[in-house]
Amino acid sequence: MECSGQVTPHLMLAVGTAVIGSLQFGYNTGVINAPQNTIESFYNETWSSRFSEPISQSALTALWSVSVAIFSVGGMLGSFSVGLFVNRFGRRNSMLVANALAFIAAAFMGFSKLAASFEMLIVGRFIVGIYSGLSTGFVPMYVEEISPTSLRGALGTLHQLGVVIGILVAQIFGLESIMGNASLWPLLLGFTLVPAILQCALLPFCPESPRYLLINCNEESKACSVLMKLRGADEVNEDIREMREESQKMMREKKVTMAELFRSPVYRQPMMVAIMLQLSQQLSGINAVFYYSTGIFERAGVAQPVYATIGAGVVNTAFTVVSLFVVERMGRRPLHLIGLMGMAVSAVFLTVAMALLDQLRWMSYVSIVAIFSFVAFFEIGPGPIPWFIVAELFSQGPRPAAIAVAGLSNWSANFLVGMCFQYVEQLCGPYVFIIFTVLLLGFFVFTYFKVPETKGRTFDEIAAGFRHSAGQGADKYSAAEEFNTLRGDDPDL
Ligand code: GLC
Repeated sequence: MECSGQVTPHLMLAVGTAVIGSLQFGYNTGVINAPQNTIESFYNETWSSRFSEPISQSALTALWSVSVAIFSVGGMLGSFSVGLFVNRFGRRNSMLVANALAFIAAAFMGFSKLAASFEMLIVGRFIVGIYSGLSTGFVPMYVEEISPTSLRGALGTLHQLGVVIGILVAQIFGLESIMGNASLWPLLLGFTLVPAILQCALLPFCPESPRYLLINCNEESKACSVLMKLRGADEVNEDIREMREESQKMMREKKVTMAELFRSPVYRQPMMVAIMLQLSQQLSGINAVFYYSTGIFERAGVAQPVYATIGAGVVNTAFTVVSLFVVERMGRRPLHLIGLMGMAVSAVFLTVAMALLDQLRWMSYVSIVAIFSFVAFFEIGPGPIPWFIVAELFSQGPRPAAIAVAGLSNWSANFLVGMCFQYVEQLCGPYVFIIFTVLLLGFFVFTYFKVPETKGRTFDEIAAGFRHSAGQGADKYSAAEEFNTLRGDDPDL
C-alpha cells in the first residue's frame, strides 16, 4: 500500500481541468432556481401569443417541472452511456468529446428567447443533462484513477466541490440585477459555453489515466512516464506493480457486463452498496432545495428568498471544503452517517418551522437555519462520498459498468425529486420534508450495517475485501463489519 501522496502541479492541472465538467453540472443544476418567475413569464407570453390566451396555472406548473426535470432525464441517458466512451476513447478524450454536447445545449438555451420557443429551452436542458450525466461518470473515474491512494478521497471530493461552486455561481449570476432578468436570462443559460471552451482548451495538456494506459491498453512505458509527472517522482515502481497485479487479475476475469454485476456474488454486494449510496444522496431531498428553494423560502415567509438561496449555496460550498479536509482522516463511513443523521434532524426542524409559521412569524428564521444545516450536513458526507466511492468499490474491469449503473440510479432518483416535489408539496403542505426524514433514517441504517470503509486501501484490496465476504457467506456477520475487520495484514489481501 502506498503511504503518502503528493499534490503536484501536473496532478492539480489534471484534476482541476476535469472538474470543470462538475462545475458545468452544478451550474445547470442551480441555474433555473432564482429566475423561475422571470422565465415563467416568458413561457406565459409565448403561450399567449401562440394560443391567444394566458397559460393556466396547471399547464405552467407542468411545463416548469418538465423544464427542471428534463435535465435529469438527460443525466440518466448520459450516465448510463459512460461505458460506451471510456474504454473506447480513453478517459481524457471522452471528456473532450462530450463538450460538443455543451456547445449545442448552450446554443439551444441561449437562442430560445429569440426564437420564442420554450421547447428549445427544454431541449437544451435535456442535452446539457446528457453532458452532465457523462461528467458524473467521467470525472470521478478519471480523478480516482490518477490520484495516489492516500489522496483519493480528498481529490474525489473536488468533483463535488466543482458541483457546488457551479451551483453558487449560477445562483449569483441568477440575481435579477445580474442576469436573472427579462432581457438577460438567455445569456445566463447560454453561459454554459464558457466552461466548455475552457475545458476544451486545457484538456489537451492533461495526461490520459495511467491505469487506463497500462491496464486497458497495455502501454506500460507511457503509463510510467505519465505517472512520474503526476507524482513528481522518478520512481513509480510501487504504483506500476499494483496496476500490473490488477491487470493480471483482470485478464483472468471475463468481461464484466451490467448483468454480471447483479449475477456474480462478488459484485452483487458492492453494487448494492453503490446503488443505495446514490439513492441516499438524491432521496435525501437535497435537490428539493437546489431546484426549488426560492419558492420554499417564499412560503416560509422569508423576506428576501433569493438571498437566502444564495446563503444556502455559500453554506453548501463551505461544508464541501470541510469534508475535503476531513475525509482522509475520518473516513467515508462516519462522515456519511453523520451527514444522513444531521439531515434527518434538520428536516424535522424545518417541518416544525413550516407548520408553526402561521402562529409564530419568527419561525421563518428557524426555517432558514434548518435549511442551511440540512445543506451543511449533506455536504459532510452524502454529497461528495457517493460520487467517488463507486470508483473505489470496483476494480478496473467492472468499474465502467458499475459507474454507469450507479449513475443511472442517481439520476433517476434526481428526476423523481425534480419532477414530483412541487406536486407532493401541494399535497402535503408543510409536512413534505417528513418523507425525506423517513428515507434518511432508512439510509442511515443501511449505511451502518452494509457500507464498508475504503479509506487508505488500494482498489485491489477493496475488491479483495468483497471477494472475501462473498466467499464466506455474509450471514454470520454483517458484511460491513466483516469487511472492516479485514486489514492489510490479512494473507488474502
Ligand atoms: C450532488 C448531487 C446533485 C446536487 C448537489 C448539491 O452533486 O448529485 O444532484 O444538486 O450535490 O450540492
